[in-house]
Amino acid sequence: MDTQSSSGSSKREEILKNNLDYTLFSWSKQKGLDPICVERAEGVYLYDYDGKRFLDFSSGLMNVNIGHGDQRVTNAVVKQMQNVSYVTPGCATEVRGELGKKLAEICPGNLTKAFFTLSGAGSIENAIKLARLFTGRHKIISRYRAFHGGTYAAMTAGGDPRKLASDSQQVPNVVHVEDPYCYRCPWSQQPDSCKLECISHIERIIDFEGPKNIAGILMEGESGTSGCIKYPKNYWRKLREICDTHGILLIADEVMSGFGRTGKWFGFENHGVIPDMVCMAKGIASGYLPFGCLMVTNTIAAKFDNEPLMIGLTYSAHATACAAALEVIKIYETDHLIENAIKMGNYVEKRVDELKKAHPCIGDFRNTGLLGCMELVKNRNTREPMAPYNAPASAMQVMNQVAARLKELGVYTFVRWNYIFIAPPLSITEKQIDEGIDKISEALKIADASCS
Ligand SMILES: Cc1ncc(COP(=O)(O)O)c(C=O)c1O
Repeated sequence: MDTQSSSGSSKREEILKNNLDYTLFSWSKQKGLDPICVERAEGVYLYDYDGKRFLDFSSGLMNVNIGHGDQRVTNAVVKQMQNVSYVTPGCATEVRGELGKKLAEICPGNLTKAFFTLSGAGSIENAIKLARLFTGRHKIISRYRAFHGGTYAAMTAGGDPRKLASDSQQVPNVVHVEDPYCYRCPWSQQPDSCKLECISHIERIIDFEGPKNIAGILMEGESGTSGCIKYPKNYWRKLREICDTHGILLIADEVMSGFGRTGKWFGFENHGVIPDMVCMAKGIASGYLPFGCLMVTNTIAAKFDNEPLMIGLTYSAHATACAAALEVIKIYETDHLIENAIKMGNYVEKRVDELKKAHPCIGDFRNTGLLGCMELVKNRNTREPMAPYNAPASAMQVMNQVAARLKELGVYTFVRWNYIFIAPPLSITEKQIDEGIDKISEALKIADASCS
């Protein structure tokens, strides 16, 4: 071992020790963790203290859409901080106004008013509160498999099992519906026999719950951590019709699917409808600073022209975070990243089609733009998952081995139950996709061995 890598290793050990001894890691048992110690990150790569390079095939948590280490964002942030870093949300700043105007420009329809938050969960919390204030109704309908964030109302609105440990404290008046999970249709339908039972199901639940009690229907614009479950054709159009019939607000959670991730500015644009509220975070500032936004129509905003808008945060419209977001949005445009997401997404799909021929463990691959999820199965005919929903550790042996092999090969991505996500930064090239796909192919050999 040369001196440089041995000093890298001792530095790594010190960093790891401080992290593990003095900080808590989310959603995990704290003992036995072995996180990558990241020294620097650039483009689609992370580098650890031993000089090992990892391809970031999930853009962090599907948020670093422009890629890592872009100095244009650093410069914009520094410049903003030299003038004003923070003022109270009651003050006006040039950057806040410019960002609001830019978002109104990229959002369709009359989604023209931005309330700035700090995170995805913060946007969801405020959407739920505002939907209730605007409609005077109390119930929110959302999907069981969705994840909307880790704060109480957001966590309640999601159905993701991460909430189960604390769901005795969930907020009231959230009603869940089944997902339109076509690969495992809850109504046992096939694409050619489907009559959108998933929509009739929602209509029935609305009748049971009382349409006049329902403030909003909240859905991810495109599904993310729930497994990139694709909405069937006309699903969103039907949701829009249901909302219009009953005076319910349609709320799109674009925290993960927004900002080019699905080949459009927003996931809902793949479905030809315009929601009443849009929750944003992640890609809005690409993770350079924590930031989010709740975008609402001017109709909703107008209700508060002459009555107080009772929502607020100390860091709403934080000037430095606004500057980061404004620069990141410029980069999507100048670097043609949304166009690249479509092109590279098609390339990923072509490569995964090839993988399917070589790997019997691939049951399904669902992708939109660069938001993709591979679902591993033990048997393609029975579709028995390689690890079940909410798999306990004992059922994760094979998937854990696949994840460990990916890490060893230098691929960082999100592996959950029987899902492997492919959601690299939108700046990725074909050559870098080949690198990731070839390494995934290598790791899948482990899962193939468990196929019948
Ligand atoms: C669809 C969706 N909504 C909301 C959130 C919560 O975002 P945050 O972690 O920034 O609060 C997430 C996080 O993964 C998400 O995927």
